Amino acid sequence: MLLPGLLDTDAIRKDFPILDRVVHGDKKLIYLDNAATSQKPRQVLDVINAHYERHNANVHRGVHVLAEEATALYEGARDKVAAFINAPSRDEVIFTKNASESLNLVANMLGWADEPYRVDHDTEIVITEMEHHSNIVPWQLLSQRTGAKLKWFGLTDDGRLDLSNIDQVITEKTKVVSFVLVSNILGTLNPVEAIVRRAQEVGALVVIDASQAAPHMPLDVQALQADFVAFTGHKMCAPDGIGVLWGRQELLEDLPPFLGGGEMIETVSMHSSTYAPAPHKFEAGTPPIAQAVGLGAAVDYLTSIGMENIARHEHVITEYAIRRLQEVPDLRIIGPTTAEDRGAAVSFTLGDIHPHDVGQVLDEQGIAVRVGHHCARPVCLRYGIPATTRASFYLYSTPGEVDALIEGLEHVRNFFG
Ligand code: ALA
Repeated sequence: MLLPGLLDTDAIRKDFPILDRVVHGDKKLIYLDNAATSQKPRQVLDVINAHYERHNANVHRGVHVLAEEATALYEGARDKVAAFINAPSRDEVIFTKNASESLNLVANMLGWADEPYRVDHDTEIVITEMEHHSNIVPWQLLSQRTGAKLKWFGLTDDGRLDLSNIDQVITEKTKVVSFVLVSNILGTLNPVEAIVRRAQEVGALVVIDASQAAPHMPLDVQALQADFVAFTGHKMCAPDGIGVLWGRQELLEDLPPFLGGGEMIETVSMHSSTYAPAPHKFEAGTPPIAQAVGLGAAVDYLTSIGMENIARHEHVITEYAIRRLQEVPDLRIIGPTTAEDRGAAVSFTLGDIHPHDVGQVLDEQGIAVRVGHHCARPVCLRYGIPATTRASFYLYSTPGEVDALIEGLEHVRNFFG
C-alpha cells in the first residue's frame, strides 16, 4: 500500500538482516516491539565488528596505537551524539549504560548536591503518572532518603497529562520536575513548553526522559530548554548497554559525581581526591566502548535517513494503525486515539482477553508485540486494566505489517470465541 510520507521501506529493510527471519517454522517475522528495543542495521553491526576486529583497547589510558584509535572512536561517538541532539558542547554528553542509569545519576547528583540544588525534607520533587518505572523509582528513593515530598501530575481519560492544576503541583518548593517526552505505554507526546515555563518560574530543574523520542523525531536539547535529557541507545538502532545523559554544562560543573573510581578523577591521595571535568567526572571505570562506538554509527545511520523523514513515516504508519485498530470489535486503545501529538507506540485491550493470551496467539503467527504493564504500572492502575498489548513501530514498519496485525487480532478473537 502506498501512503504519502512513507520512507522507502523496501530499501531500508535490506539494512536489517533480522527482518528477514522466519519464526515458528514458516511465519515471516513481523516485529512490532520497537518501543522495547529496535533492530540494528548492518551499518551498525559492521562498525561494532570492526571495532573488536581492528581497534579494541581501553580508552584514555594507553599510549599505543590501538588505545589511541579506540579513544578517538569513543570520543568521536560523543561528538556525533552531541551534534544529533544539538548540544552546545560535547562535554555535556555523558555516556551511561541506559536511560535508567542516566535518570538515577541525576537523582543521585541532586541527592548529594549542596545549595542551591540540594533536595531535602523541605523541598518537592514532581513527576507524572505516565512515567516509566525508571523515572519513578529513582525519585521515590531520593524522596525516602531526603524527606522531600514526591508529587505528580495525573492523567486525563484520553491519555494525556492533566495540567489543570499545574500551579499547585509545581510550587516554590519544587526543586526538580522530571517527565517523559513520549510515553512508552500511551504513546502520548507531552507539552514540554508549558511544564518548562512553570518550572522555570519557580526555579526548578527540568529533567526529560526522551527514551521514546530520541529514536523517532528530531531532538534538540536547546529547544527543549531542559536542564537534563536522558535516553538510551538500544531503542535507536544502537547496541544495548549504552545510554546518554545530557546536562547543562554549569550544572555538570557544580554537581557532585555519583560513582567513584578510575577515569573520573584528577588526582587521588589516601585522604581525598579531586575530580576530572565533565563528562569524565560522571564516567567512572571502563566505559561501554564498543557500545558507544555503535551508538555513533546508529546516529550516522539515522541522520543519513533524516529524523524528520523518520518522524513523518511513523506518523503515517501510526495514523493508519489507529484507524485499522479502531475497526476491530471490542478493541480499546489506551492512550490518544489521534496521531497528533503522539509517538508510534499504540497500546490496547481486546475485550476481556488477557493481553498475555493476545501476545501469545500473535506470536504464533510471527507477530512480535509486547504485553504487560510495560514498566509503567501506575498507568494500568489509572485505567483499571491489568496490562495492555502494545504494538510499536519504527522506520522499517510497513502498512502491510499493520494489516497483518489486524488479521492476527481477528485470529485471536476467533480463537477465544
Ligand atoms: N522501556 C521499554 C519498553 O517500554 C523496555 O518496552
